[in-house]
Amino acid sequence: MHAALQQRTTALSTLVARRAQHTLSAPLATGFSTSLALRHGRTRTTTAAPINPTSASSQLLRQLHSSARHLHENPLGIPKREANPAPKIPRRAPGPPQKSGIRGVNHVVVVASGKGGVGKSTVAANLALALAKTSPEALGRPARIGLLDLDIFGPSVPLLMGLDRAGEPELSDTNKLVPLQNHGVKTMSIGYLLPPDPNTPVVWRGLMVQKAVQQLLFDVDWSQGGDLDALVIDMPPGTGDVQLSLGQLVVVDGAVIVSTPQDVALIDARKGVAMFQKVGVPIIGLLLNMSHFKCGSCDTPHELFGSSDKFTAAASELGLDVLGKVPLVTSVSDGGDAGRPVMVQSSAEGDEVREAMKHVGEEVWQYLASRPKVSGVRG
Ligand SMILES: Nc1ncnc2c1ncn2[C@@H]1O[C@H](COP(=O)(O)OP(=O)(O)OP(=O)(O)O)[C@@H](O)[C@H]1O
Ligand SMILES: [Mg+2]
Ligand SMILES: [Zn+2]
Repeated sequence: MHAALQQRTTALSTLVARRAQHTLSAPLATGFSTSLALRHGRTRTTTAAPINPTSASSQLLRQLHSSARHLHENPLGIPKREANPAPKIPRRAPGPPQKSGIRGVNHVVVVASGKGGVGKSTVAANLALALAKTSPEALGRPARIGLLDLDIFGPSVPLLMGLDRAGEPELSDTNKLVPLQNHGVKTMSIGYLLPPDPNTPVVWRGLMVQKAVQQLLFDVDWSQGGDLDALVIDMPPGTGDVQLSLGQLVVVDGAVIVSTPQDVALIDARKGVAMFQKVGVPIIGLLLNMSHFKCGSCDTPHELFGSSDKFTAAASELGLDVLGKVPLVTSVSDGGDAGRPVMVQSSAEGDEVREAMKHVGEEVWQYLASRPKVSGVRG
């Protein structure tokens, strides 16, 4: 191994350790009754602050006395909209639920993977910014982009986008959550509505999760200042309920599947592809994250996690495009921790990542150009 490469292993092992910790810290769903404690915890933290009558948390205060039986109907504490009622949990009904568009959103792109910790959230945040930077000329104005965090158990969008201390979202006059904006991108995450204590895991499962997903999908007002040209959705790891709910409820234009070169990640990427195909979500392509590492002393890309040729071969076997290869770079993870994604940084170290992500942005726009605009909307 290079002397210079050896010198950089400290930085690298920090990165790898962080990834491992990240994957392990995903909270377990332990049961329904604890959700009350979570909500009481959240209420305690909000009573200390002056109450803004339109904030979601103060609406939640008013709902405190609602029984546990009703909690699963409204996990985010969004008050009822009489004129435009919140969607109900699908009861046993004949046939699958109807897919629809999201009001105020022209196109939906999801970033997903079968596996945890491969960089989905990081890619999703940077893809949102890349889409803003590569706005199609035909629009004649900068594209309006949103980023929706559908990771109920491990939301990372608030931190990644520098909005972890932004406070709670306001409610619009139609009782929808108003997105929080930074770096020119509108965002929504369950993280904005949870108590600030990072040790309080979300302990919902089943219907609560399903309903929270529905509220995040249909109870956010994306339309202020003009409809979004594209909404990027950051998915939780795996192929579970959230993925299924999304695929069944929303017309998704396409999915970007993130993978790392390790064999196990590739196997999981295959699972992710299969699941989206099953629920009728087209795959835009694969993105290879942490494809290589440049040591700084030579120009050889060191393929630390396995050969990218193998990845390319797997992609062509699946009949999928490789949209880009994103190297392992410290400014990507440091930027994520600091709320300044690499796309908004300017240090030379991030140049290769920015180029790769811009290319992915262009490919996604090109793909979206051929997609029809969704006719029916909900929310
Ligand atoms: N290209 C990269 N270079 C350096 N670090 C990266 C890169 N991509 C991701 N990381 C780091 O890897 C860790 C995991 O990334 P991230 O949270 O985006 O993964 P994830 O797939 O969304 O995880 P989860 O499945 O838990 O949601 C983070 O610390 C992130 O900063
Ligand atoms: Mg994530
Ligand atoms: Zn080298």
